[in-house]
Amino acid sequence: MLSGKRNSASALHILSLLLLFLHCQASSHNYHFVVKEATYTRLCSTKEILTVNGKFPGPVLQAHKGDTIYVNVHNNGRYNITIHWHGVKQPRYPWSDGPEYITQCPIQPGHKFKQKIIFSEEEGTIWWHAHSDWSRATVYGAIIVYPKRGASYPFPQPHEEVPIILGNSSS
Ligand SMILES: *[C@@H]1O[C@H](CO)[C@@H](O)[C@H](O)[C@H]1NC(C)=O
Repeated sequence: MLSGKRNSASALHILSLLLLFLHCQASSHNYHFVVKEATYTRLCSTKEILTVNGKFPGPVLQAHKGDTIYVNVHNNGRYNITIHWHGVKQPRYPWSDGPEYITQCPIQPGHKFKQKIIFSEEEGTIWWHAHSDWSRATVYGAIIVYPKRGASYPFPQPHEEVPIILGNSSS
């Protein structure tokens, strides 16, 4: 009786761990990008710049080759914006690829748009950036596409990886 209880308790424990694991897996495929102005200081100069989530450079997207991820873009800025996933082929799905008035309408201030990103053949580090007017000057970040789940790196697995993004914050 006692061991039966203990068994069901551990089964419940395993189930909750599994649910937690599934939840973490799923949440890593949904990102929220809040486009907003933020105060930014570099080299003793402070200014308001347009950012994603108040970060400059913006957040790093991480996926595995073969993954599909979703980015919910909320435009809390004052201007229309689109976000482009640079170097991602988006096979048969250009509808959330970014170029304004070509594959999608811009996201207007106060509106949001869920963008689907399909990683088919890409592997390595690429980037995302705003695809509307001057907003691309500060709205960008890295996309890291790891090898397919279960596959190994095409080179010895690095000890550590640090994305380096070159940009010009003075514009
Ligand atoms: C913003 O986007 C909307 C919808 O596409 C468009 O009607 C409007 O002209 C755009 N505004 C500017 C300033 O480009």
